[in-house]
Amino acid sequence: MKRILITGGAGFLGSHLCDRFIKEGYHVIAMDNLITGDIRNIEHLLPLSNFEFHHHDVSQFIHIPGELDYILHFASPASPIDYLKIPIQTLKVGSLGIHNCLGLARVKNARVLIASTSEVYGDPTVHPQPEEYWGNVNPVGPRGVYDEAKRFQEAITMAYHTYHGLETRIVRIFNTYGPRMRLNDGRVLPAFIGQALRGEDLTIFGDGSQTRSFCYVDDLIEGIYRLLLSDYAYPVNIGNPGEITIKEFAEEIIKLTGTDQKVVYKPLPKDDPKQRQPNISKAKVLLDWEPRVSRAEGLRITYEYFKSLPEEELYKAAYHREFSAS
Ligand SMILES: NC(=O)c1ccc[n+]([C@@H]2O[C@H](COP(=O)([O-])OP(=O)(O)OC[C@H]3O[C@@H](n4cnc5c(N)ncnc54)[C@H](O)[C@@H]3O)[C@@H](O)[C@H]2O)c1
Repeated sequence: MKRILITGGAGFLGSHLCDRFIKEGYHVIAMDNLITGDIRNIEHLLPLSNFEFHHHDVSQFIHIPGELDYILHFASPASPIDYLKIPIQTLKVGSLGIHNCLGLARVKNARVLIASTSEVYGDPTVHPQPEEYWGNVNPVGPRGVYDEAKRFQEAITMAYHTYHGLETRIVRIFNTYGPRMRLNDGRVLPAFIGQALRGEDLTIFGDGSQTRSFCYVDDLIEGIYRLLLSDYAYPVNIGNPGEITIKEFAEEIIKLTGTDQKVVYKPLPKDDPKQRQPNISKAKVLLDWEPRVSRAEGLRITYEYFKSLPEEELYKAAYHREFSAS
């Protein structure tokens, strides 16, 4: 039985990865300090004999007894509301955390796949973004803590590949959505649906002409699975190229939820990217992958999930855990 360590395993994407690798017959070790994740995301896996949960901060030394074939490094605050609140932890998990994972991989002779992000492209001047584009990132702006942590993570991963011959994979994930996202994580999709469910107006930051591309989680997980098993060490974009303006997206959510609320406008936050659309030519050729789930279908499933949550989830403060600042 292949053994895989998934850091950030109790988070949105990490928990879907745990499900997938359990389904593929792996022994799955999920590691998470629950800083933004939720044990309920993996509760259904806890009784399984081929599933382990380690409550641990991956920015500290990682010890895993026994063999490991693969390590997926997904631990990191991922939404602006999280990483702006916990900037130092974000930088640490993107630097010390990946360093620990790479060291562990060398000892175990395991293959590492890291979760990078379209945020490495910053506010892009090239559209859509191919992997060869180096980005337009402000290192000292508020988003720098996330964007630069992810850029460093790619650099150190590539260095371990080049200098130590470690097997590595880099996925650049574009906006992904689906069940187990948090309603209050500040990302646009749960924010709109949460507002609709609470009977509030939908807030658009800026004039709504900025674009985003939303990938349904099952499509993303399939792309990651294929990339892990491929022999390609350079970054690969995985996302859905279906681009939409935030204004159009708000209209779609209003239609989906049947809310009679309207849209209100607030000033755009600093360094908010104006455009986001993956160029997925590489994933198509290398992995024979492209997204299959339409936005209409993905949104319907996600809306059903949010509707099924206990009502108090709708009113939870955006950030509800206590942490030290370092
Ligand atoms: N969701 C997206 O659209 C998206 C887009 C691009 C990249 N990503 C990347 O994918 C990964 C997962 O994102 P997500 O959306 O599932 O976010 P998430 O917040 O739901 O999951 C992140 C998980 O990492 C855990 N974590 C954070 N710091 C940790 C630490 N030091 N030690 C152990 N665990 C820690 C959190 O508790 C959480 O469970 C992140 O690396 C993120 O940067 C996500």
